[in-house]
Amino acid sequence: MKKNEVNVMEKIVSLCKRRGFIFPGSEIYGGLAGIYDYGPLGVELRHNIKQYFWNKFIAERDDVYGMGAAILMPERVWEASGHTELFTDPLVECKVCHARVRADQPDAIAEHEATHKKEKVEWSEPRVFNLLVESKLGASEDTATKVYLRGEITQGVHVNFKNVLDSMHPKLPFGIGQIGKAFRNEITPRDFLFRQREFEQMELQFYIKPDEAEGMKQFEYWKQFALDWYYGLGFKKESLRLRQHAPDERAHYAKDAWDIEFNVPDMGWKEAWGIHHRGDWDLKRHSEFSKVDLSYYDDETKERFIPWDIECSGGVDRGVLFTMLEAYTEDELGGEPRTYLKLPAHIAPVRVAVFPLLKNKPELVAKARELYAMIKKEIPNTNFDDNGNIGKRYRRQDEIGTPYCVTIDFDTIEQGKGVTVRHRDSGEQERVPETELVSFLKKG
Ligand code: GAP
Repeated sequence: MKKNEVNVMEKIVSLCKRRGFIFPGSEIYGGLAGIYDYGPLGVELRHNIKQYFWNKFIAERDDVYGMGAAILMPERVWEASGHTELFTDPLVECKVCHARVRADQPDAIAEHEATHKKEKVEWSEPRVFNLLVESKLGASEDTATKVYLRGEITQGVHVNFKNVLDSMHPKLPFGIGQIGKAFRNEITPRDFLFRQREFEQMELQFYIKPDEAEGMKQFEYWKQFALDWYYGLGFKKESLRLRQHAPDERAHYAKDAWDIEFNVPDMGWKEAWGIHHRGDWDLKRHSEFSKVDLSYYDDETKERFIPWDIECSGGVDRGVLFTMLEAYTEDELGGEPRTYLKLPAHIAPVRVAVFPLLKNKPELVAKARELYAMIKKEIPNTNFDDNGNIGKRYRRQDEIGTPYCVTIDFDTIEQGKGVTVRHRDSGEQERVPETELVSFLKKG
């Protein structure tokens, strides 16, 4: 990249703020590092991505249950899961200004050193730093109980394994999926939504018989399933890859681990999802620590055992960020430069925008309002827009990724010739009869 050129990440950060996708957290008070708030369009995009996960990994399957566990969990849960001891990153401290940076991130170290133009930076010896975010519950200091905001949403599923067995009576293999917030006291939050301190995860824990061949089969199946799901967000084949973790890279619970990585423009390959073979680590440890038997009884083989867990763990916010980075397109249309988000229709925050051709013609506005109400009943993420001229409206909708713009003109009312539907990517328009409009807009 040339000096002073704005990279795609910077363009997305600016678009997110300007168009109401994502804002720095508590911005009017100076912000909070690693924390972001979703605005009106961002929250719709995030909701659509989560809904797509929920449909594909949970609702459309017979072998997966959904659940929603609490964020706060007692210390004992995290001792059992190994997080109080092992959920750590190496930290070094700058001896000049005492800022703390992750020792294993050369970029963060170089970035910090560049802030000290005059002094040569010396660093402390690395030490381990635990990422769990701690809090206390209870009315008085003496009786308050130490709790943790969950560092991964996973443990809420494992601690409910027996509840799901006893209430739903599933047979192996079966899964439990959920979506929710996780919290990590990241030493160096960075790169916008990529590394935050509060973020959302969408996960599946898929329980299987403890058998090497079954483990390999299921692991391969879920790796591909997760990758195919990610392609459904509009990624080109060459933008994603699967990469296996080296043994010293794996989390403490993983027998094998692969990441789905996205080739971030100007930055290179970055983790989007993790697929982990967790073996019996979690259920075994929770059985030991809680003294509650978390084994499974197989009616057919008359065996009792602790199941293994194959995990698909996706970051919702990384999904939002990477989807926007992939969708961001600059081209020329009608001789003019333009910017648009090439989002698939099923996740676009606004699916349809309805316009009267002219704002000052009451008959056009009335008809546009009538059709808008009809479409909105069937497609809730439909917007009405009569600001500025039609060209400006198209540009505004392109920038937020609206796939369809519906214009009501004089032919619509005078000759009953239907409306024009304009397609975002090509800019082409076609006439669609009013009676077919909703089904046309629902397709794709
Ligand atoms: N339950 C397994 C687990 O939590 P992980 O690889 O630590 O595994 C899973 O996290 C996913 O959560 C990552 O692939 C990433 O998408 C997302 N994630 C992790 N840390 C994050 C952070 N600090 N900010 C945003 N997303 C994060």
